[in-house]
Amino acid sequence: MTIDLQKPATIMRGIGSYVPSQVVDNVALSKKVDTSDEWIRSRTGIKQRRIATEKESTSDLAFNAAQNALKNAGLKANDIDLVIVATITPDMAFPSTACLIQHRLGIPKVACFDIEAACSGFLYALDIADGMLSSGRFNCALIVGAEKLSSIMDWEDRTTCVLFGDGAGAAVLAKTGKGPKLIGFKSGADGSNPTLLHQPAGGSLEPASLKSLENRGHFLKMNGREIFKSAVRVMGAAARDLIAENGLTEKDIDHVIPHQANARIVESLSQRLEIPLEKFFCNLDKYGNTSAASIPIAFDEATRASIFKKGQLGLFVAFGAGLTWSAVLVCF
Ligand code: ACO
Repeated sequence: MTIDLQKPATIMRGIGSYVPSQVVDNVALSKKVDTSDEWIRSRTGIKQRRIATEKESTSDLAFNAAQNALKNAGLKANDIDLVIVATITPDMAFPSTACLIQHRLGIPKVACFDIEAACSGFLYALDIADGMLSSGRFNCALIVGAEKLSSIMDWEDRTTCVLFGDGAGAAVLAKTGKGPKLIGFKSGADGSNPTLLHQPAGGSLEPASLKSLENRGHFLKMNGREIFKSAVRVMGAAARDLIAENGLTEKDIDHVIPHQANARIVESLSQRLEIPLEKFFCNLDKYGNTSAASIPIAFDEATRASIFKKGQLGLFVAFGAGLTWSAVLVCF
């Protein structure tokens, strides 16, 4: 291992998450669409997911996760001077969900924006925040991955609606203090095939109309098989490049927190990277795929379970619509 741990790094001062209380298991879903608990479990590993109520929006989930992260960091909202929310299901196209939670946190004037990198969004946001904190112009960043994916699900499409769930995870980052250190980043994208995973209507290309509603164009559409293959390839490549660029080998990695999309994707990634499956933390059986919220929810749960030992190395790795991908190295 050649990593220089004395080098100044961005520190994750606190992590927190929040999921809606309503649990929808596979048996309940099989009463809505032509599916079964056996099919969903064997093809994806998912047993249940959390679904927000009509009254709960993405900013509600984000706000609760942010408060939990601040509490765990031992910091107050007014310590924050930058808010970034990663989401593909903002409360509305604009203003940003970051602005909405800024107001609820009572921190006027601080910089706020959303980013859209789908399931890689939280890791992209860590990468962006690291750059902004390292510039010296910001001191303390609140990063949130939050999704109400149930709001863009086609509940008549069994090939997608069984996969996703709602939730939020948040982290507080600073250049000083105690916590896991973010020591390397690798973000990228390939925009050559956008319709592999997309929401066709509601943007400037196809604004909302009676026709777009009739065509169910406001719902998520996905080519699952192609996404599966791309996911393993791009996460594998991003992880390998990041590990090598930091003078490490796959054997140096103690823990992997992968994007929680599908247990079979995680197994294939483990084989491709030759990192044993026991080193991968998964909770997708409980929450399904929560897109930008998936890694911080998993990281928060793993942190609370005390699975990380001081000095161990962790790898976060994600892929998402775009296609986007991102990997982040962490020293606990
Ligand atoms: N219940 C029962 N049968 C189903 C269901 C369901 N929920 N969904 C599909 N099927 C059927 C299909 O119709 C097909 O039937 P057929 O053979 O008669 O045509 C059969 O099951 C097999 O379908 P496949 O699509 O080949 O199934 P596969 O094994 O590929 O699994 C899955 C599908 C789970 C979607 C898988 O391809 C996958 O996980 N892909 C990746 C998806 C993903 O991770 N997306 C998230 C991207 S991240 C982001 O940015 C949001």
